[in-house]
Amino acid sequence: MERIYIFDTTLRDGEQSPGATMNLQEKKRMARQLERLGVDIIEAGFPAASEGDFKAVQEIARSVQQVQVAGLCRAVEKDIVLAYEAVKHSPEPRIHTFIATSDVHLKYKLKKSRQEVLDITREAVRLAAKLCPNVEFSAEDASRSDWDYLVEVFSVAVESGAKVLNVPDTVGYTQPGEFFELITYLRKHVRGAEKVIFSVHCHNDLGLAVANTLAALKAGAKQAEVTVSGIGERAGNAALEEVIMNLTVRKEYYNFVTNVQTEQIYPTCRLLSLIIGQPIPPYKAIVGANAFAHESGIHQDGVLKNRLTYEIMTPQSVGKTSSDIVLGKHSGRHAIKQKLQELGYNLGEEELNKVFLAVKNLADKKKKIYDEDVEAIVLEEVYRLPDKFELKYLSAISGNMAIPTAVLKMQVNGEEKKLADFGVGPIDAIFNTISRIVDRKPKLLRYSVNAITGGTDAQGEVTVRVEENNLTAVGRASDPDIIVASAKAYINALNRLVKKEEEQTNGQNS
Ligand code: KIV
Ligand code: ZN
Repeated sequence: MERIYIFDTTLRDGEQSPGATMNLQEKKRMARQLERLGVDIIEAGFPAASEGDFKAVQEIARSVQQVQVAGLCRAVEKDIVLAYEAVKHSPEPRIHTFIATSDVHLKYKLKKSRQEVLDITREAVRLAAKLCPNVEFSAEDASRSDWDYLVEVFSVAVESGAKVLNVPDTVGYTQPGEFFELITYLRKHVRGAEKVIFSVHCHNDLGLAVANTLAALKAGAKQAEVTVSGIGERAGNAALEEVIMNLTVRKEYYNFVTNVQTEQIYPTCRLLSLIIGQPIPPYKAIVGANAFAHESGIHQDGVLKNRLTYEIMTPQSVGKTSSDIVLGKHSGRHAIKQKLQELGYNLGEEELNKVFLAVKNLADKKKKIYDEDVEAIVLEEVYRLPDKFELKYLSAISGNMAIPTAVLKMQVNGEEKKLADFGVGPIDAIFNTISRIVDRKPKLLRYSVNAITGGTDAQGEVTVRVEENNLTAVGRASDPDIIVASAKAYINALNRLVKKEEEQTNGQNS
């Protein structure tokens, strides 16, 4: 069986998905989980984009050991040098440089001739290869580029030292049969094709990202660029879990192997969903809540007689075990530490203490504590940024005869402030009060509540998305009381907004 390399770009292209920004700690946590999942390459970010991006790539390069770490950069000297500086501490660093090759991009975006783009490719790849032997070159909008020109650009990239040639379907335009032919054509005509790996990077604008990726692998591409749950620019990228499970379930058709541990798929998707505060849709292939639920009577009957009638893979094979109760009121530190290790968290004593107290606290309110609850606690207690705004006290009144009122005490830049205000409902009253306390009035773009697990005592997971001064931020929080979770999520979004503003100002000043 031939080996396929999985290049995960959740932390770069995925982070370009609206509302999917992650802080440094969350990116590092996600990178560790991707390593556990068994991807081959993590694209950790775009180091020239901002100081925050640079730092995230640098820290991930230092912290993951079993996986290559790539940094994306335009085919521009300054970007390439920065990308190298960011990835160089990885045991296996990779520079991923790109330039657009379609006529429409050349004419309107780059305002450059085909010859100029060829020259830029040569210079960029040469510089990258001088810094780092592991260079990937991408021809942006390859699927809408002239095939013979693409052959020229890729041939120059190989001559200049590229080891991986990536063929992006940047706007999700291509069709599986056509993409198969393009990859076949490139493998046949690019000079030095036998020395390099062909890679594909498909977007999902027409819902074909996974189908196009699989077609390209059939045509001889050896690297698939994917994201967890398919998050990414616009309609997203090819979903890692879908590509992997196609290769796994239809092994006899593809005859390929990867290094991915399929049992880590669900925990990885779930972790991402917790971090970005966007629930996995129930109808999502492979990992959605309904993916293994049989509703129709005929199907249920068939499955009871023999699961093979309607089940092509088991929930266990993607790590979706039935939610076992993991911890309760009487669980000791040791049990909690062990559960955390099982979930992939190796926490220090101080962090473990915080989680232990939070689990105990939750167990007082909620009898059964599941993996998802533990994960939500860790994200809040350990991975949250030091906040400017913090909730200290909250009470809210609502009811059919009451005027919805909120009373809050908060810590704002170290100073305690308290205030009461009204609203059309308790959440409105809370958000109004918080806005007045912190003296900001962002627009609320989204508010959603989700139960983390089943049962009326389940923790409520609240996600809010706010916008102010053309910047958006997502906040997330969980608590058995959804009113408290809402306040914490709103405050979390405001903290992230402030952080983004600071990053923007630092970027402009540097
Ligand atoms: O979609 C795209 O073309 C990209 C490249 C930078 C690889 O993300
Ligand atoms: Zn992309």
